[in-house]
Amino acid sequence: MISPDVRGFFDPVTATWSYVVWAEGHADKRCAVIDSVLDYDIHSGRTKTTSVDRVIEFVRKKGLSVEWVLETHIHADHLTGSHYIKKALGGRTAISRHILKVLEAWQPVFHNEHDTPLEGYQFDHIFADEEAFTIGPLQAHIIHTPGHTPADTTYIIGDAAFVGDAIFLPDVGTGRCDFPGGSADDSYDSVQKILRLPENTRIYVGHDYPPVGKRGAQCMTTVAEQKAHNIRVGGGVSKKDYVEKRNRDDKGKDVPKLLLPSIQVNLRSGDFGTATQGVQYVKLPVDKV
Ligand SMILES: [Fe+2]
Repeated sequence: MISPDVRGFFDPVTATWSYVVWAEGHADKRCAVIDSVLDYDIHSGRTKTTSVDRVIEFVRKKGLSVEWVLETHIHADHLTGSHYIKKALGGRTAISRHILKVLEAWQPVFHNEHDTPLEGYQFDHIFADEEAFTIGPLQAHIIHTPGHTPADTTYIIGDAAFVGDAIFLPDVGTGRCDFPGGSADDSYDSVQKILRLPENTRIYVGHDYPPVGKRGAQCMTTVAEQKAHNIRVGGGVSKKDYVEKRNRDDKGKDVPKLLLPSIQVNLRSGDFGTATQGVQYVKLPVDKV
């Protein structure tokens, strides 16, 4: 098994980690980009590509070619840069088949099915549960890890696992479970799937929210470290205790600032949808969330 090289890119505005994954020194230069970020100012409605351009510059400098543009889930706190990356570098966009549940859940809120097909055609590939795939010479497969949202996916690439928001670094815990279709029960089960991976598996998280003043943003830990130290699931916490605390802590939480723009754009794989007279819009439903 080839062990992948991983480069993380941190967006401090949304605390998001994006990744490029490839096999250094291998003649096959294909890579995957995971969870890219398109910068978006909610007040002006203006996008910027500073975050995603850092990823693109890195890919170009390394002479890599993008084979996959992957999403761990439909993010609620930032817009994906997938559409922009695909236009700049190529690659196939992909997400888990459980996206269909998320499309269905949000359809009554946005009514965007004219440009956001409920069948998921806006993604180049929809992964089946446990589907295996390759990134150039790297062996990969997905595992279904719902809880934070119903479509959360972990990408296992060699000895690395890209877990999205299923689990964060040990001192941060796990992802909130109060979005539509989210479930603390599912979150516990998904985390157990991740913790059953080999102990030295490198776990790359989708966000980092370091405890204030304690450390800078980091992106990687291991299964062994999570088992021993994760503040929500470490030390063999029971499902009952986990679910109670997760639900208690999520109760009454503010919605993420970029929730409405993020969901509708991310459900289109990062496109802003049909233009009216050359202008694209973000819809803000009233009293629906
Ligand atoms: Fe998320």
